Amino acid sequence: MKTEILSLLRAAEGYISGQELCRRFGVSRTAVWKAINQLKESGYEIEAVSNKGYRLIGQQDILNQAEIRSRMNTKWAGKELHYLESTGSTNLDAKRLLEEGAKDGVLVVAGEQTKGRGRRGRSWQSPSDANIYMTLGLRPELKPELAPMITLVDALAVAAAVEEVCGLEVKIKWPNDVIIDGKKICGILTEMSTETGFIQYVVIGTGINVNETEFPEELRDKATSLRLEKGEVLLRAPIVAKCMEFFETYYEIFLKTGDLSLLLKDYEKRLVNMGKKVKVLDPQNEFEGIARGIDKKGELLVEKEDGTIEPVYAGEVSVRGIYGYV
Ligand code: BTN
Repeated sequence: MKTEILSLLRAAEGYISGQELCRRFGVSRTAVWKAINQLKESGYEIEAVSNKGYRLIGQQDILNQAEIRSRMNTKWAGKELHYLESTGSTNLDAKRLLEEGAKDGVLVVAGEQTKGRGRRGRSWQSPSDANIYMTLGLRPELKPELAPMITLVDALAVAAAVEEVCGLEVKIKWPNDVIIDGKKICGILTEMSTETGFIQYVVIGTGINVNETEFPEELRDKATSLRLEKGEVLLRAPIVAKCMEFFETYYEIFLKTGDLSLLLKDYEKRLVNMGKKVKVLDPQNEFEGIARGIDKKGELLVEKEDGTIEPVYAGEVSVRGIYGYV
């Protein structure tokens, strides 16, 4: 009921009477009063005026189960939602849930992570109540070698969601760093479990820097947050919900063909490396060239000096701009 009350209060132009809430939910005045008090305890500012009813004041950046659910507008992504105030890593939580039988689309969101994990064995800073830490669990019927493409699909979803909610121009640094104004605002860590040549499950962990204002020295020139870029505090829950909506749309398109052919144009529009000189950091074969786009497998197409095009596979190497991070 808290989720529904929140949605109603948010949608209301003015006050909603206690009587109206009792009627809608078929409960007593005391039950409504209790639910309102619980919402207040979670940090919502709710004004109660006799003869008028209840009204939600202001917008607070509150993340919890009811807040996310009340904004979620998806068919299957994030329908099973687990919110944890603090956890080690949402990727590990999602894996455990899938091992225990959770369905396609299970979502874990946390207020903080004590052992946040990044790519290549790095850690991912996950301070309390500042950013988004979430992992979506999927059970695609696909060959394991196709899994890296899901990471590109997620990058596309995050970029579209952040752009819609925040009104900022959002780009992607191949393969899956989401970028605003040349700096990273989101990282994605995809992990999978396979069985007899097929994917048993995939977890897609997404970390979005939302309201963080301080970055460690070594990250300052390449990481930023939505708050720093927009100049105001942003609400995390609508971003989580929009990410799920866009992911659902893009992922269903991806599943139609099992590749990125129908998403190529959308991806290339956001590709920050497009037409730029890049350095491919492959220990076996480091080289420079101009990024010309991606192919349907999600490989970056790099034009070498001799005019040949070299496809670079997303799973193995990363690229850098010649003059800096992008
Ligand atoms: C990267 O190195 O760019 C990937 C970072 C991925 C961080 C997210 S936060 C939610 C999920 N849980 C983790 O432990 N990592 C991912």
